[in-house]
Amino acid sequence: MSTEKTTIPAEFQIKAPIHQNTYLVNGELKEWKGNTTEVFSTISETSTYKPTLLGSIPDMGEPEALGALDAALEAYDKGKGVWPTMHVKDRIESMEKFVKQMETKREEIVKLLMWEIGKSLPDSRKEFDRTVEYIYDTIEDYKQLDRDSAKFQKNQGVYAHVKRGPLGVVLCLGPYNYPLNETFALLIPAIIMGNTAIFKPAKHGVLLITPLLEAFQNSFPKGVINVLFGRGRAVAAPIMQTGKVDVLALIGNSKSANALQNQHPKSNRLRLVLGLEAKNPAIVLPDADLNLTIEEVLAGTTSFNGQRCTALKVVYLHEAIQENFLKQFAEKIDALKFGNPWEEGVKLTPLPEPGKPAYIQELIDDALAKGAKIINKKGGQHFDNYIWPAVLYPVTRDMRVYQEEQFGPVIPVLSFDDIEQPLDDMAESNYGQQVSLFGKDVYTLSPLIDTLVNLVCRVNLNSSCQRGPDVYPFTGRKDSAQATLSVHDALRSFSIRTFVAFKDNELNNETVQQLLEAKLSNFVSTDYIL
Ligand code: G3H
Repeated sequence: MSTEKTTIPAEFQIKAPIHQNTYLVNGELKEWKGNTTEVFSTISETSTYKPTLLGSIPDMGEPEALGALDAALEAYDKGKGVWPTMHVKDRIESMEKFVKQMETKREEIVKLLMWEIGKSLPDSRKEFDRTVEYIYDTIEDYKQLDRDSAKFQKNQGVYAHVKRGPLGVVLCLGPYNYPLNETFALLIPAIIMGNTAIFKPAKHGVLLITPLLEAFQNSFPKGVINVLFGRGRAVAAPIMQTGKVDVLALIGNSKSANALQNQHPKSNRLRLVLGLEAKNPAIVLPDADLNLTIEEVLAGTTSFNGQRCTALKVVYLHEAIQENFLKQFAEKIDALKFGNPWEEGVKLTPLPEPGKPAYIQELIDDALAKGAKIINKKGGQHFDNYIWPAVLYPVTRDMRVYQEEQFGPVIPVLSFDDIEQPLDDMAESNYGQQVSLFGKDVYTLSPLIDTLVNLVCRVNLNSSCQRGPDVYPFTGRKDSAQATLSVHDALRSFSIRTFVAFKDNELNNETVQQLLEAKLSNFVSTDYIL
């Protein structure tokens, strides 16, 4: 057996494991002396395959979870806390202080993204940069929101000064496929709007949060952000059971979301900001531009190995185009390069979940047993930490690969001769996030678009599905999402309109005039933040 080190460029090597022995609660980086869980990468450092030990994290339980909840509650202090009552410009200053420190951690975090979740170097860099940009855009949008509300309106003899206020304590849980970006797309707007938060990083992609703990600690008042480690069941469940969480913000799986929301005893109090599963279809019409469509479907089905909620997870080909499409598509899939994330030109990378190849194999076996074939030569080939994307055709509705969100490298393909078939399937589906529609004829496209916008929340014309640019609304129908995220919408999702109203009379007008002049209230203010 060769344990010889593979040739990993020095800058990407793991020099020493990170044993994370502190966690952030109530502004303090507390030392953890209890049990720990080892964190492994499915990427091997040696030529004989062996998962790599990246470090360890605290395995926390109920007492620590409730400690974090108490800290968040205390920082909110029934709405009286320093953070929820702070002037918007001061909250923005704290956020700027945080993001500036975050920018200095780029290399460290990008390296951990590659090792922890197998994301390619360009995509890991993109995830980091996109997150930083998201924070700056959020700051700008919040300033605009505040400027827009720096006024009074009058209706039927009543003045109103309407703004947006925080909701309370947010429990924030992100997914492993975007452990930085999607988690921060929840946490950052939640915090900036004046809420306080308890945040538990995803199972894979957890160590990459650790370089940011000090920045969290020194940028925000104590208890505003509390970071826990451990299993969701052990830390998130006890927090929900108290009924003291105001918002559950989760991007991930509906089973975890349902389990957690069901633990909350006061369902009317709990607000949900959820991004869940999807099974976005590609619908390819007979007049689609073949080359462009193949490139878009290739990117949509395989980027980050299909581990994106927005990935194309089922492909519908019109019978007239099916043969040509499949032949060229299968060749393109087999020509993709597999390798470690830092390798030049790599498109397919190790899967972070050790059990994923076996799960994908189950889906393939089930489809083959029910009459599908693997169209591409390499389809289903196994590696130590990977399974080559299999293009399965013809897929039928009784197959698991049609019914389940595969979230990995396998591509189910169906053909149709009547557009009502994919439309009926979409109406029947539990999901309703996005669709990709490929075609040119406006007489065909027009009625289709008019229907599709009512089945999903984004129709991508001759383009693969995606969340970005982050200024656009990201949401879904049915079981795919609750609430809308985007730079702007997230600020709304994590806040509520709240206002000061007064009848138009001499006493009130004078009092409000004095309130404005005294500049003592952070809420009653018509100052413009530039
Ligand atoms: O996992 C779901 C993500 O929101 C997808 O985002 O389309 O930018 O990859 P993306």
